[in-house]
Amino acid sequence: MVEAVQIPVEHIKESKLPQVDFKNLGFGKYFSDHMLEADYVNGEWTSVRIRPYQELGFLPALSVLHYSQTIFEGQKAHKDENGNVHIFRPHENWKRLNRSAERMAMPQVPEEIFVEGMKQLIELDKDFIPSGYDESLYIRPFLFATEETLGVKAANAYKFMIITGPVGAYFAEPARIYVEEKFTRAAPGGTGAVKTGGNYAASLLSSAEARKQGYDQVLWMDAIEHKYVQEVGAMNIFFMIGDKIITPDLSDGTILAGITRMSLIEMFKDAGHKVEERRISIDEIIEAYKSGQLKEVFGSGTAATISHVKELKYKDFVMELDVDAMTVSSQMKKELLDYKENKSGDKYGWLERV
Ligand code: PLP
Ligand code: COI
Repeated sequence: MVEAVQIPVEHIKESKLPQVDFKNLGFGKYFSDHMLEADYVNGEWTSVRIRPYQELGFLPALSVLHYSQTIFEGQKAHKDENGNVHIFRPHENWKRLNRSAERMAMPQVPEEIFVEGMKQLIELDKDFIPSGYDESLYIRPFLFATEETLGVKAANAYKFMIITGPVGAYFAEPARIYVEEKFTRAAPGGTGAVKTGGNYAASLLSSAEARKQGYDQVLWMDAIEHKYVQEVGAMNIFFMIGDKIITPDLSDGTILAGITRMSLIEMFKDAGHKVEERRISIDEIIEAYKSGQLKEVFGSGTAATISHVKELKYKDFVMELDVDAMTVSSQMKKELLDYKENKSGDKYGWLERV
């Protein structure tokens, strides 16, 4: 447990709540009234504060703009039937942010700023939390370098922030995905397991190509043999082959250790399913498809929750999948959403009450 610190708040003069179209939320379109901010200067965290969501002043030499020392997290908060607000597994995101910080030569963010600060921020803006199916308050903590310098080195100044906003489902429809053969996302020793902006920047050309060809996303392959599947742009990937649920393992550091992935593995196992974390090749997936054993394919992530894949293409081979028949993951999606909304009792102790 961490000590609760009362963070100074500058309140917004006029709430932006009336501007939110709760019937048409989309993702990342609306931002709540307040933001949390803290500065790391001379080896210390200072000036933790909450103030109205607004522009940040910065100079052109701001080091993050040049060398991309920036990391982020993605989380969700839900309101339960009694109006209580719960954040899903915030301590896991705090730990992952600090693992990312270590790899990117950035300072550690204290738990009381990350978790306690987040709770205070959400308490202020809880009216922004929507209540429809698969809707939530999306939480975006992030840390970036703020030193004014063009020297290539770890910066000596950073800003940590949290912004939030109401969101709907990230993917409205089951996804059509193709297996990326030309570009790679991550190699062992690189930053694949780190939630840093550069990974996403490097993926954008590939996503744009996919979209031109009528696909929603790409499935990344390993950078060495181009044979083993890794993950999708903003989610981990699962395949149900026969009665086994298989997802790539995390051992070579090329895949983000998704908190949804980790939660689903535990929930599937508890529900009596066989789960394997291991390397899985595209050939194995194609073989399973041809023999009728590829039963379910889905991605997992905070923004995406569970998103089904209805088409998977590798070279010229197209695998069409029947999403209506994906009953195991559909049932689990409901269980996960119910869990986050505190409908099923907090059996694993994953909910943090605001
Ligand atoms: N992989 C990538 C590249 C992601 O951006 C995300 C989203 O955060 C995930 C996987 C899923 O991680 P989590 O379940 O922690 O949101
Ligand atoms: C999340 O699922 O929270 C993510 O961070 C994915 C994001 C890139 C939209």
